[in-house]
Amino acid sequence: MKFFIDTANLAQIKEANDLGILDGVTTNPSLMAKEGIVGEAAVMQHYLDICNIVNGDVSAEVIATDFEGMVAEGEKLAALHENIVVKVPMIKDGIKAISYFTSKGIRTNCTLIFSAGQALLAAKAGATYVSPFVGRLDDISYDGMELIAQISQLFSIQGYQTQILAASIRNPVHIVKSAQFGAHVITSPLPSILALLKHPLTDSGLAQFLADHKKANS
Ligand code: G3P
Repeated sequence: MKFFIDTANLAQIKEANDLGILDGVTTNPSLMAKEGIVGEAAVMQHYLDICNIVNGDVSAEVIATDFEGMVAEGEKLAALHENIVVKVPMIKDGIKAISYFTSKGIRTNCTLIFSAGQALLAAKAGATYVSPFVGRLDDISYDGMELIAQISQLFSIQGYQTQILAASIRNPVHIVKSAQFGAHVITSPLPSILALLKHPLTDSGLAQFLADHKKANS
């Protein structure tokens, strides 16, 4: 399973990349706004900065919600760098745009997926990735992991090449379960990735090893 980081924060992207485990980055308009990146020139430069840190796919989301607007924005984003994947919302014109981008060889990530039917339609349109939002489903008392499992079964039965990119990851258990239920990729904020490192028995075990070593060598 590939690990993407879900942020537009360059320091956090560098930190995850330095671990040697980072396969890509996802952003969205909220994450860009959080970093204070406003205006087309700044946004484009920021995507380039991200592409220069990570050797992997970088999802850049269109703002337009009409077909022509999404195509114009997406073509500009795709021309920025070979690793850019155009992120398109799951709406009617979005599906039309994904079909168009697919026919032009432009890779896409269909975002805001909350049902298996939406994932099926995006795969049919040729999306490179679909992004089911696990945490936001959990927030409204649906089981986000159940959706990952359902899409995984559906894509494997039908032989779709579209990759399942588990998004809206909120904790390390979401990451492990996404791997277990067949996600090809997770995109997560840095804290949940770093939380995978942690176990109290690792900390106490290491402290004991070091203490015993010190005693024996003093
Ligand atoms: O990139 C979209 C996504 O991962 C959103 O996460 O935590 O805002 O639901 P969250």
